[in-house]
Amino acid sequence: MITSHVGPLTYEKVDVDKALKAALNKSRSEVIGTVSSSGLKGRGGAGFPTGVKWNLCAAAQNEHKFLVCNADEGEPGTFKDRILLTDYAKLVFAGMVIGGYAIGATKGLIYLRGEYQYLRAQLEEILEALREDKLLGFNILGKDDFSFDIEIRMGAGAYVCGEETALIESLEGHRGEPRNRPPYPVDTGFLGQPTAVNNVETLAWVTTIFDKGAEWFKGQGTEKSPGLKIFSVSGDCKQPGVYELPFGVSVADLLKTVGGEDAKAVQIGGASGHCIPAKDFGRKIGFEDIATGGSVIVFGPQRDLLEVAINFMEFFSDESCGQCTPCRDGCPVILKGLEAFKRGECSIAHLHELRRLGETMQLASKCGLGQSAANAFLSITEHFADEVLGRNQSNGFKE
Ligand SMILES: Cc1cc2nc3c(=O)[nH]c(=O)nc-3n(C[C@H](O)[C@H](O)[C@H](O)COP(=O)(O)O)c2cc1C
Ligand code: SF4
Repeated sequence: MITSHVGPLTYEKVDVDKALKAALNKSRSEVIGTVSSSGLKGRGGAGFPTGVKWNLCAAAQNEHKFLVCNADEGEPGTFKDRILLTDYAKLVFAGMVIGGYAIGATKGLIYLRGEYQYLRAQLEEILEALREDKLLGFNILGKDDFSFDIEIRMGAGAYVCGEETALIESLEGHRGEPRNRPPYPVDTGFLGQPTAVNNVETLAWVTTIFDKGAEWFKGQGTEKSPGLKIFSVSGDCKQPGVYELPFGVSVADLLKTVGGEDAKAVQIGGASGHCIPAKDFGRKIGFEDIATGGSVIVFGPQRDLLEVAINFMEFFSDESCGQCTPCRDGCPVILKGLEAFKRGECSIAHLHELRRLGETMQLASKCGLGQSAANAFLSITEHFADEVLGRNQSNGFKE
């Protein structure tokens, strides 16, 4: 298990107390203004602007509001949030306090991945120390208009519970199934109240921004993807681990950093992301080109990409919550097709049908799980048709 980061992280030098004081000395709208002007976009994958989300939640007039830290981290190949919670939990909790203050919440919940149970005791200790330092609880830093506390709730190992509405269902004690959207959580979230759900890394950057400044943050990365990003790198490379790099880095430069120059492909964005072939390694990682929550899986020259596609589709078949037909039925149908392919039994016409099914799932599934479950299958069969069809007697797949 990878337990630390490779190379320096900005977080090491952040003065959390200074950041908290700087944020709470501002008005709520100034805090949201700072986050908006930094250009910070959510690090959980979708890249929604954090300032916009907080503004929507702040605008609601409800008496009760919630800020939820999404620490479910179920995407295959992602482990950056685990490292952040292990080494920089105070930074994440401070980001929750700042977010709670900005939107007018009195309660924060951290939804911790079931497998991270072992982290719970040390996280509780850090929360207790924050309470003793008056950085959590009643009238934080002497502000009589702001009280906020954080509770840890455990997930139970379902990947779909990382999706924010399924997560909220799970927090409420229900079966973890995605809700229809709209309404969005900022309007109708936990217990029907306005709720901002933010990724662990997003909240760590919030605290960093209040220490180092919105301009500092915005000065890195690209215009559409400002700031730095934490990547979880695994697979066929010399130095797997957690890395901090600016958005806009090319796949080739990332591979050089991690010792994966001989890769034939890279899966960016985890099982729900896309398989990028070597000819496209000049492409940039960022919301304007290859969007990602941070998972990078390197495939070396020997890696069998049909096996990779089968492995990912097994995962989605298991994890589909079963609520909607395109995802519930589409995942196992594609999986069966890939397994037939492995036995050399699948026709090219069937592959075309499976690809059409995958595209239909992208359009017709209810939530992000089904909408992205076919991404890897589609990109692998697009870029590595010869390799995938190597087992098939009727070789020569053409689009
Ligand atoms: C199937 C599925 C799983 C997800 N898992 C996670 C997760 O583990 N952590 C996370 O932060 N976001 C996850 N998301 C995205 C969340 O729904 C949500 O967009 C995110 O928590 C918002 O935080 P952000 O704006 O800070 O990125 C997942 C989405 C889907 C569709
Ligand atoms: S897309 Fe899949 S996970 Fe999402 S609601 Fe439909 S069946 Fe459930």
